[in-house]
Amino acid sequence: MNDVPRVPCHIAIVMDGNGRWAKQRFLPRFAGHKAGVDALRRCVKACASRGVAVLTVFAFSSENWNRPRDEVSSLMDLLVMALAREVPQLAADGVRLCFVGERDGLSLALRAGLEQAEAATLSNAGLLLNVCFNYGGRWDLVQAANRLVAQGQAITESSLGAAMQMGKVPDPDLIIRTGGEQRISNFLLWQAAYAELVFSDRLWPDFDDEALDLALCAFARRERRFGKISEQLAPALHGQPVV
Ligand code: IPE
Ligand code: IPE
Ligand code: MG
Repeated sequence: MNDVPRVPCHIAIVMDGNGRWAKQRFLPRFAGHKAGVDALRRCVKACASRGVAVLTVFAFSSENWNRPRDEVSSLMDLLVMALAREVPQLAADGVRLCFVGERDGLSLALRAGLEQAEAATLSNAGLLLNVCFNYGGRWDLVQAANRLVAQGQAITESSLGAAMQMGKVPDPDLIIRTGGEQRISNFLLWQAAYAELVFSDRLWPDFDDEALDLALCAFARRERRFGKISEQLAPALHGQPVV
């Protein structure tokens, strides 16, 4: 389905609302996280079929360690299970998987799983799926700055941008947050500079193709001025270009 005009090249999503989805159904929070994996599988397919090149999702934040210990360990286990279940199909679909975030705090088994998944999909040329796990925007900025300092490099907008975890990937054009909250929660702080923001009331496990298309339509209606004025962007509509 490619009749949606101006499809963003890079979509980033704060996949929020799993716990509330489970609570509404009198289920444990873990059931919501499991349903969240199903929603992500559908969303990857939908984005690929709409011509999106990069999808970046927020799966576990630096601050999510502060949740009850049971929930944190079930989220770690869920990632191990999801990798085993999903990677073969993702690989077959041409998806390239990349994990973004601090790996030091993760178990050896999980780290090995992340590396295997990345290696198995490394040469794929389809959708790039960045999974932000144990990720925080502030952490990303600090690790980038430390890297430059260690290399004796000057900190400039371009050197810092390149040293960020996704330094080789264009910034997101569209950031969607599901679950009704209207905040960034330490997601891509640097990369969000000129992203269009769309907030959906849908809880993440309920975020379906229709909800994605609504977000894409909202994006298509936005005028991205990047500091300029309208007349500079669409000279055909406004007469002479203003330079
Ligand atoms: C997002 O859903 C998933 C993670 C943060 C791991 P939540 O678990 O935050 O769901 P709500 O916000 O409590 O409904
Ligand atoms: C943001 O959701 C992090 C992820 C979706 C992984 P949270 O549920 O942790 O955000 P807050 O705490 O409501 O801001
Ligand atoms: Mg939440």
